[in-house]
Amino acid sequence: MRFRRAVEMMLAGGAPAAVIVITGLVMAGAPLRAQKPGSSASDKPERFDGRSVFRYDTFGDEQLWTGTLQMQQPISGVSPATALGVGLKVDVDALPAGTVAALRSGAVDLNDPAVTRALLQLNAVVGVSGSVNGSGELTSVGVTCAFCHSTVDDSLTHGIGHRLDGWANRDLNVGAIIALSPVLDDATRSTLNTWGPGRYDPRLHAFDGTNILPLNATTAPVLIPSIFGLKGVGFETYTGDGPISYWNSYVGVTQMGGHGSFSDPRIGLSVTQTPDLVTPKLPALVDYELSLRTPRPPKGSVNHEAADRGEALFQGAARCSTCHQAPYLTDVRSGPTPDVPFLHDAAEVGMDPTYALRTATGKYRTTPLRALWQHPGYFHDGSAPDLPAVVDHYDRLFSLGLSEPQKSDLVEYLKTL
Ligand code: HEC
Ligand code: HEC
Repeated sequence: MRFRRAVEMMLAGGAPAAVIVITGLVMAGAPLRAQKPGSSASDKPERFDGRSVFRYDTFGDEQLWTGTLQMQQPISGVSPATALGVGLKVDVDALPAGTVAALRSGAVDLNDPAVTRALLQLNAVVGVSGSVNGSGELTSVGVTCAFCHSTVDDSLTHGIGHRLDGWANRDLNVGAIIALSPVLDDATRSTLNTWGPGRYDPRLHAFDGTNILPLNATTAPVLIPSIFGLKGVGFETYTGDGPISYWNSYVGVTQMGGHGSFSDPRIGLSVTQTPDLVTPKLPALVDYELSLRTPRPPKGSVNHEAADRGEALFQGAARCSTCHQAPYLTDVRSGPTPDVPFLHDAAEVGMDPTYALRTATGKYRTTPLRALWQHPGYFHDGSAPDLPAVVDHYDRLFSLGLSEPQKSDLVEYLKTL
């Protein structure tokens, strides 16, 4: 509690005094941060809380973000305004009441990097874990699954609110953030800066615990997907490479840089690190992911009569349901055996094969359609179309001959999914 008051004072503008208070507490050995369940080698390693793992566990990926990328250096000097500007989010529930009040009244200096460090210390920056030493210096940083797959509801102000786990962070500019690393060359930096908000390329590099290995010479960033509504779908990622835990292992080890093991001969990648801080947590993590429900469209945002007509088209003249089959609006489970996904060649759906060819399957999964009212749909053809453009794409591709009123009815139905 004393620590919280100190940070509160700091956030309210009393920075120098607060730094001294924090220093004093560190000297006295007081815990600087709430214990993060699941992030340390606990007494009972077989039991983890999936939500805590998802939100707070870095799996030891400080070895990449701190050890290799040296991200603590640039982040030390980043103001909260800049951090919010690259899409980072602040969890209002991690802030002491006084800080919330200070933020509301504008008493917090959002241009002061010391405030960013204080927020990290409070574990309030969604998906970023930081440690600050007694002198107020940021000594290490790491990221969690929530970095890319959580946002906030903006209840306090833009970028500051209650956590929305599983909602893709469409503002997060991962490339611009990593490009701040002092160890990267200019060519890599400019590549990273081409990604833009809400996108990430998980097939450009892999981290093996020591080195960042190049996987491909050019980048093909994809939209960070929301990860709610996946219960029953069976095969995850755009290309159906495996079940959820396959991706979690791939991303946790090779992309986040967690201290663990991942191996897939299909893509010629094998990383072994002991102790493995990733694999034992995968069962709890998947349970939490599968518990995340698809959010409904806001009240009043859908014309239900038009949507009903659109549903009939989806299942009839527009032929969408031949691939987007109920109940999960995908045909990925119609493979020959339960462990083989049913996938589509890029050309069959008018997509660019580049990204798919870099994955284990080489093909695209029929996307299980969810929360299309939130994001208009994403195609691997280099575009991020809105829903009318999605419908036009299929109308052209399959020569459906839909009329304009039919197209808008179909769009209205898609908004309900
Ligand atoms: C740096 C950003 C980033 C981080 C961190 C990250 N992911 Fe992802 N995630 C992505 C991207 C991009 C994709 C799409 C990749 C693809 O489909 O090929 C994805 C795909 C997924 C999917 C599949 C969604 C679907 O529609 O099938 C799940 C589930 C998921 N991530 C969960 C997680 C979990 C759990 C973690 C932590 C272990 C995590 N991700 C860490 C960016 C990230
Ligand atoms: C031949 C199979 C097939 C048919 C028919 C089909 N789709 Fe798709 N759909 C796919 C595949 C495969 C993807 C994933 C493409 C990718 O990842 O690039 C997809 C992706 C989508 C997406 C993007 C979803 C997201 O969350 O980003 C939307 C929206 C969509 N389809 C709507 C429709 C509509 C509407 C129709 C009918 C007009 C339709 N689809 C017909 C196979 C199909």
